[in-house]
Amino acid sequence: MPTIAVTRVIPEAGLALLRDAAEVRLWEDDLPPDAAALADLLRGCDGALTLLTDAIDGDVLDREPQLRVVSNFAVGYDNVDVPAATARGVAVCNTPDALTETTADFAFALLMAAARRVVEGADYVRAGKWQTWGPLLLRGHDLHHATLGVVGFGRIGREVAKRGRGFDMRVLAYDTHQDEAAARELGAEYRSLDDLLGAADFVTLHVALTDETRHLIGGRELGLMKPTAILVNAARGPVTDTDALVAALRDGTIAGAALDVTDPEPLPADHPLVSLPNALVVPHIASATYATRDKMAETAARNLLAVLRGERPPFIVNPEVLND
Ligand code: DGY
Repeated sequence: MPTIAVTRVIPEAGLALLRDAAEVRLWEDDLPPDAAALADLLRGCDGALTLLTDAIDGDVLDREPQLRVVSNFAVGYDNVDVPAATARGVAVCNTPDALTETTADFAFALLMAAARRVVEGADYVRAGKWQTWGPLLLRGHDLHHATLGVVGFGRIGREVAKRGRGFDMRVLAYDTHQDEAAARELGAEYRSLDDLLGAADFVTLHVALTDETRHLIGGRELGLMKPTAILVNAARGPVTDTDALVAALRDGTIAGAALDVTDPEPLPADHPLVSLPNALVVPHIASATYATRDKMAETAARNLLAVLRGERPPFIVNPEVLND
């Protein structure tokens, strides 16, 4: 039987599949293994089921030359050095389809919560401040008929666009690769990033983190946005320049931000983004539904087992390592 490392407790839907086919070495702590503990866990393993909190680079892979697959429990795989894995013939897999709609739902939930000040309202009631109905109390921004700017028009971005159309929003899209037919079908119009930022009432980020997208939204870009605009990030924290965002929220360059992801992650409790009234931060939970986390676990397990069996996995990032 092969030996597989699983770097955190994942839903049983995935663990059961792995246990049927392999000896499973499970990291049971709530917190991720540090580099030394990860090295211990991976020692002698044929496959690793990893999370976005595990850094898998060339050094890690060099220590375990028998490792054949790194199956990430996420659509994003910026925690894995894919060229290093490819150079060593290690397959890298991810879980894209499982979480598309769930993540889009949550990005939209963030957008609505920030626009209509849902969390501020709940905090107000909890703090015992609710004394009367007030014409000026906690006014927010309309979503309906507003302009939604979707940055990254892939699977998740398109699902967010679909939700925006359901609210009669005008949808603008930015991507380096343009699929005109998909945009037409969703009633979206492609724009340059600068044009989108200048026109949108809501800007929602759905790009993968790469060298090209790191700090895609910095001080200059925030400066192009409307002072009434809200930024949503359910992609990766470093796509936004955190210091520039804090400054833009403080000085009113933009109206608000709703963040599922931050840089750094986790965000320290004394970080300015935690206390700014116009920032809404949640702990990277966009894909966290029971059904979706089950699907992610199952997909990650199936990917991993397929590689070990010499079969083509359902989702592979570097198919060039397969000998099929
Ligand atoms: C991912 O899959 O990349 C998310 O960030 C976690 O679901």
